[in-house]
Amino acid sequence: MGISRGWRRLLFFLPLILIPLLLSVSELHQNSNLKDLGKNHHKKFDHLFLGPATGQGLPNRLQCQGLKALNKTHFTTSSLTFNFTDNISFVTVFAIYNISLFAHADDKSSAMVTVGNTSYTKAGRSMAILNVFINFVQVSMPRSNIIILSDPASELPIHRNNVSVLPIEGDYSRGRLMLQRIKSYIAFLETRYKEHSKTNNHSNHYIFTDSDVAVVDDLGYIFHHYPNFHLAVTFRNNKDQPLNSGFIAVRGTPDGILKAKRFLQEVLEVYSSKYMKASRMLGDQLALAWVVKSHPSFDAKRFTRPEAFLHEIHGALVLFLPCAVYNWTPPEGAGQFHGMPLDVKVVHFKGSRKRLMLESWNNFNSSSSDFSDMLCLVLKSGRTKYDF
Ligand SMILES: *[C@@H]1O[C@H](CO)[C@@H](O)[C@H](O)[C@H]1NC(C)=O
Ligand SMILES: *[C@@H]1O[C@H](CO)[C@@H](O)[C@H](O)[C@H]1NC(C)=O
Ligand SMILES: *[C@@H]1O[C@H](CO)[C@@H](O)[C@H](O)[C@H]1NC(C)=O
Ligand SMILES: *[C@@H]1O[C@H](CO)[C@@H](O)[C@H](O)[C@H]1NC(C)=O
Ligand SMILES: *[C@@H]1O[C@H](CO)[C@@H](O)[C@H](O)[C@H]1NC(C)=O
Ligand SMILES: *[C@@H]1O[C@H](CO)[C@@H](O)[C@H](O)[C@H]1NC(C)=O
Ligand SMILES: *[C@@H]1O[C@H](CO)[C@@H](O)[C@H](O)[C@H]1NC(C)=O
Repeated sequence: MGISRGWRRLLFFLPLILIPLLLSVSELHQNSNLKDLGKNHHKKFDHLFLGPATGQGLPNRLQCQGLKALNKTHFTTSSLTFNFTDNISFVTVFAIYNISLFAHADDKSSAMVTVGNTSYTKAGRSMAILNVFINFVQVSMPRSNIIILSDPASELPIHRNNVSVLPIEGDYSRGRLMLQRIKSYIAFLETRYKEHSKTNNHSNHYIFTDSDVAVVDDLGYIFHHYPNFHLAVTFRNNKDQPLNSGFIAVRGTPDGILKAKRFLQEVLEVYSSKYMKASRMLGDQLALAWVVKSHPSFDAKRFTRPEAFLHEIHGALVLFLPCAVYNWTPPEGAGQFHGMPLDVKVVHFKGSRKRLMLESWNNFNSSSSDFSDMLCLVLKSGRTKYDF
């Protein structure tokens, strides 16, 4: 209830806030397209649109000159430096609905969008996002694997090295997807736990993410740098939604897998009993926050500073990682925004930013193959609403 009221208030204020913002964008950016701005500001752009880069002049924030980065976002945490040998698998839930991947000119439901030289149908867009997610992971962490949890009924047309599709029974319909996602994570951890106790001693860590993220650094680092956690989640300084469910890392030891599974079961229980009305979008995040904040010894003030910390919740050692680095996304609307940290490792193309994810990959792949320059593009365009 509180949320929908909050949203209504936000929507009411949004136009008032956005007008000056867009004006300053047009003043500041020489490449800005005045034609776009003259129309209405609710417009979703069908091409790259750049605003100013925030955080200029601040220490430890990416400095950009045009689309050229003045700092290198560094790779000091790379597994090549530390000789990590751990295996890491990315795990994502992906469902494709009953829509043709192929466009028919006479089919109104297949409204096409074009990025670069490629046109996509609605389903084609989702597949493109998934493929770009895979591209980024394979550039940043070439020794990792990707596991896609999916509806057994859907046949995903994915044929990539080191990528496997794992069917898990469930209800993957649009309205139930966030609920199903936690259930699929739990089912997955269950099978891994059984396998683990059967076979061996080597560890395979898991990183559960949304598929609309770009991994731009080696995440193996966290398992070494923070040797004790069972699972890791990302937090931000947001009173109502301090935790984002788009990134969950699980240490691949029997203990880690078991504790993470139990923790997620707790979240699922809270989700099912308290937040089913929000099941379409935010239920899992609200349930995650509830489980953490209702733990007696937990102090929510920890969320106000963007520094990693460890806390035990229901027997699991949970590592809290700042979204600013591990789940970077610019705030919507007029929220404060202080640029991009130089050590950013994961960029999240939430909501209507997904076109930018494809544009970013094209930028990276076509010219510089330089993440720093690409991140200038993301920084300048991250608040634009796109047509994806
Ligand atoms: C980033 O680049 C700017 C401009 O060259 C420079 O002044 C700043 O010291 C650099 N920051 C870091 C942390 O290297
Ligand atoms: C990593 O391995 C390389 C080659 O095997 C070696 O030269 C280097 O010293 C190692 N680095 C560390 C931090 O152990
Ligand atoms: C689109 O096609 C043109 C002409 O073939 C080519 O020069 C350009 O690089 C392509 N752009 C992208 C983003 O692939
Ligand atoms: C990725 O795929 C290539 C080619 O099939 C294979 O040689 C390599 O071992 C795979 N890497 C991992 C981490 O599975
Ligand atoms: C796993 O490996 C550790 C050391 O690497 C060893 O102490 C332990 O006994 C092993 N456990 C099993 C079940 O093999
Ligand atoms: C990684 O996986 C391979 C193949 O499954 C295994 O042989 C190796 O021991 C694993 N590495 C570690 C550190 O567990
Ligand atoms: C990157 O660009 C090259 C052409 O410059 C193209 O052949 C290749 O398929 C692209 N890679 C991906 C993963 O899109």
